[in-house]
Amino acid sequence: MARLKLGVLISGRGSNLQALIDAAADPSYPAEIAIVISDRPEAAGLERAARAGIAHRAIPHPSREAFAAAAAAALRQSGAELVALAGYMRILDGDFVAAWRDRLVNIHPSLLPAFPGLHPQRQALAAGVRFSGCTVHFVRAEVDNGPIIAQAVVPVHPDDDEEVLSARILTVEHRLYPMTVRLFAEGRLRVAGTIVAIAGATPPENAMLNPAERLVSAGG
Ligand code: GRF
Repeated sequence: MARLKLGVLISGRGSNLQALIDAAADPSYPAEIAIVISDRPEAAGLERAARAGIAHRAIPHPSREAFAAAAAAALRQSGAELVALAGYMRILDGDFVAAWRDRLVNIHPSLLPAFPGLHPQRQALAAGVRFSGCTVHFVRAEVDNGPIIAQAVVPVHPDDDEEVLSARILTVEHRLYPMTVRLFAEGRLRVAGTIVAIAGATPPENAMLNPAERLVSAGG
């Protein structure tokens, strides 16, 4: 069966892109990366695409509209059927978002709707939450908003700083994004208003407590 063609938009490091490249290296994975687009020519993610032999382009960003027009043309040419934002650090043009409605996904390193915007890990630490994680969602006009597809949870440790918490979240991002793209590619997602239904998916059974119960009952 033909694999879903994926377009990936990046601005930098590209570790989530790499997770998608690695997943798609398995021929049985139902998606392949058709093109990687960066708004920054120096983005390390472009080299990851080059190394994997994937089409990649830096598209200048003189304005939101100009970038969107050039990106839309490149995506169309590549045959992309789904666009994944993977550390794309700018706000997308509203018409672009509307044109790709329900075919445009983003990963954000917090449990949305908590901590949208910049530095979500810093926001989580400042709020003193006991858990954080990441969210993959369909993109809507408002930043870091849109129907949630999947989330992954990690505990926050008392001595975490932004770097440590970010790294812990990143490890689950690299699992969650390829899984979500798989669900889309297999045609298992249905959006109804703000809710995404997933065909044939099982939620986990276990709750997590922080602090862990055994530590509390042992008296610390
Ligand atoms: C990730 O934390 C992602 O959730 C956020 O930006 C970061 C990008 O990292 N949107 P990378 O470029 O994928 O390594």
